Amino acid sequence: MARVYLDHASLWPLRDEARQAWQDAVDLTVGDPARAHAEGRTSRDLLERATTTTAATLGGGPAGLVWTSGGTEAIHLAVLGPALAAERRGDRRRHVVVGAVEHSAVLRATERLAADHGYTLDVVGVDRSGTVDAERMMAAITGDTLSVHLQHANHEVGATQPTHEVAAACRDRGALLHVDACQSVGQMGVTLDQVGADLLTASCGKFGGPRGLGFLALGERARLAPLLEGDDRQRRRRAGGIDVAAVAAGAVALQAATDRLQSEHSHREVLRRRLRAALPEAVDGVEVHGPLADAHPGIVAATAQGVDGEALAAALDERGFAVHSGSSCASLPWEEASHVLVAMGVHTRGHVRFSVGPATRVSDVDDAVAAYRDAVTSLRHAYGR
Ligand SMILES: Cc1ncc(COP(=O)(O)O)c(C=O)c1O
Repeated sequence: MARVYLDHASLWPLRDEARQAWQDAVDLTVGDPARAHAEGRTSRDLLERATTTTAATLGGGPAGLVWTSGGTEAIHLAVLGPALAAERRGDRRRHVVVGAVEHSAVLRATERLAADHGYTLDVVGVDRSGTVDAERMMAAITGDTLSVHLQHANHEVGATQPTHEVAAACRDRGALLHVDACQSVGQMGVTLDQVGADLLTASCGKFGGPRGLGFLALGERARLAPLLEGDDRQRRRRAGGIDVAAVAAGAVALQAATDRLQSEHSHREVLRRRLRAALPEAVDGVEVHGPLADAHPGIVAATAQGVDGEALAAALDERGFAVHSGSSCASLPWEEASHVLVAMGVHTRGHVRFSVGPATRVSDVDDAVAAYRDAVTSLRHAYGR
């Protein structure tokens, strides 16, 4: 039986245009883009072109774009970079505000600010749909707040967050707003202005670009000190070599995603709503999470009473369906309930996340629902429930 891949929130298949761009660039980019020779200039031209088009898609200029090894590194630079720059200029602010359902990279980077730099953290909770209370978040921002961290779309339940409202409060109080848009760039058409971000982070593997590539886009107010030192590349914001062929492929992937944004979005939205409606109807004791409207178009989270999420994901895998279980990005997901579902105050056991992509068909979703019914029923039977 053909496999059905329903884990696009972890990684998308590489887009054809990105594969072609990588193949075209890989033999052209023998030279280090930091060198003055002809080979270096060829690489530099490609890098500059890719940086300019990517930055323009986000509504910024090439001087404000930093390529990284993925979303996680971009997030660390967005969280720790402004804090290091603030310390260097003698800025005494030591407070950050963070949403409770942020990705673990954001939560852990802010925890590092607390542990290593004496910051206090305010973690702002969410409602049952996974949406941060904007009023509470705005009330938490004080004159001592250096930065606020609020994602654009949640990676586990698809809730979108009120970044624009919070951005206004950040500006009023002189704090920076970092928006983790790893699940949105290339999928929901975000720009720096639209979400109100001073720092915006993205992961190219999540919109059909190369894995292990991400970026940080900076608005005019953001000041950063680098986390990696060693050379003056990327305007001294991130030292170290750059895989120019991957960057060229990432830029092309974002362009292709942007060109097809509307059609991919509406196709996925139809699938998401179909899956969301069908899962609780297929089996008793199943709940779906996250908001119905104004949500990420590709993500459906469901919990099934009386089963274990890891066992359920394994049972679906055996039946040909790739889904993710448990806490996104926990190294041993079965050991820890999803912090997102815990913060929402919903049932956490038996959690799996389905995430559809542009090539997912209606029949794939219907087959996944049938497999889900079969898997939940047989696991409950095996547990004697
Ligand atoms: C919302 C969000 N932020 C950050 C990341 C981390 O991105 P990367 O895997 O590129 O390090 C992910 C990946 O799952 C994510 O979903």
